[in-house]
Amino acid sequence: MALLNSGTPGKLKLGVLISGRGSNLQALLNAAAVPDFPATVALVLSNKADAAGLERARGAGIPALALPHKDYADKPAFEQAMTRALEDADVQLVCLAGFMRLLSPWFVDHWRDRLINIHPSLLPAFPGIDTHQRALDAGVRFHGCTVHYVRSEVDSGPIVAQAAVPVQSDDTADTLSARVLAAEHELYPLAVRLIAEGRVTVEGDRAVLAGPLPIPATALNPRPA
Ligand code: GRF
Repeated sequence: MALLNSGTPGKLKLGVLISGRGSNLQALLNAAAVPDFPATVALVLSNKADAAGLERARGAGIPALALPHKDYADKPAFEQAMTRALEDADVQLVCLAGFMRLLSPWFVDHWRDRLINIHPSLLPAFPGIDTHQRALDAGVRFHGCTVHYVRSEVDSGPIVAQAAVPVQSDDTADTLSARVLAAEHELYPLAVRLIAEGRVTVEGDRAVLAGPLPIPATALNPRPA
């Protein structure tokens, strides 16, 4: 078994930060419920008290706290409260899963290389919001999602894993978003597994994977008839 950040053998302890529906949180909870998954969800934090994801966590018996950002005097106080809660739960890896607050350089540096995000595009294409409509407007043939370590610049940082989905000619932002979301639910647990198994090393701007890892065949869109 891999030796994890704490220096003790065991499962990697995740803290998951959410703001809303929490479907990626659910994917992580489902993965963590499988006995051989090398990570466990230790704490779920939301900056919104009514985030549906909090109920998903509680339903799975996982500690879930609302820390409404509006209850804090400023961003540093809010982020310090989150950090205290995460550290009290011995969290080793923080997973952003639809967390809708911009994080300060202080928080990003404090959790450097222990903080990952899932973003609904094939980064570095389409950072920011409205990624599905922007992909349609750009006429790309593949779209997808990315799990990456977080750096201060929005939606930047070493890429851990990506999933590509084909764009279909009759797609709307909604149909494309649903296809990407299904891929997100596969990708996030895979990326966490790779990190928890100690197979991901950050080297400069890149995350290097230790193999052996199967590589998919070339995908064409469209394919020759
Ligand atoms: C996902 O599309 C994720 O990529 C983005 O925010 C959305 C969160 O959805 N960062 P959910 O709350 O996990 O359902």
